[in-house]
Amino acid sequence: MIIAIDGPASSGKGTLARLLAAHYGLPHLDTGSLYRAVGRKLLRAGGDLDTVATAEEAARTLSREDLDDPHLRDEATGDAASRVSAIPRVRAALLDYQRAFAAQPGGAVLDGRDTGTVICPEADVKLFVTASAAVRARRRAEELRARGMTADEERIRRDIEERDRRDAARSVAPLKPAPDSHLLDTTNLGIEAAFEAAKAVVEAHCLHRTAVGRPPEKPAGL
Ligand code: C5P
Repeated sequence: MIIAIDGPASSGKGTLARLLAAHYGLPHLDTGSLYRAVGRKLLRAGGDLDTVATAEEAARTLSREDLDDPHLRDEATGDAASRVSAIPRVRAALLDYQRAFAAQPGGAVLDGRDTGTVICPEADVKLFVTASAAVRARRRAEELRARGMTADEERIRRDIEERDRRDAARSVAPLKPAPDSHLLDTTNLGIEAAFEAAKAVVEAHCLHRTAVGRPPEKPAGL
């Protein structure tokens, strides 16, 4: 079973993806971490984010070390990721890895911006997770404070809106729900309620498959 979860920054999609992956015993890929690793690698090398060939090379040569960089979750890295992710050759360089991850036997959970539209249009279950910009900024600020950092919620909200605008406006793989995705607005949902709602979508899919005579998947909890 492939579960594709997309949505804007700090919507809760990453947490939901991790919880669903653990619940159903599936491997999980946070596709944003690939773009973050490319952005961070370029920042480390001097900050040239706009030279296409350099950015593509950084994407083609990503290593485990790049993905383990302790600054991957920093605000500056997120902003760099958003910029490099608009470069079509960077996206193309990361495509095969993501598709192969999704295609492994038994399936996988992927989260990002285009997992249901471009990476796995054939995914069994697609979720599009949203929340208001104000709530997302609060969550992000709390996450930073929990890591001992200071956080200006108003500035974070502006950055989030700018990132949403850039992700939705780019010509290649823009942030948008797949036509067959289930919308999950987490503005007024705690993580447990959001997880229950996401699980209900997955389980409805499994029941439907059983009802129409295809061999049932047997997720834990059913
Ligand atoms: O999800 P996260 O905030 O870690 O993603 C960082 C940036 O990477 C996003 O703002 C987005 O621009 C980009 N991204 C993308 N496609 C994905 C995942 C992330 O363009 N599938």
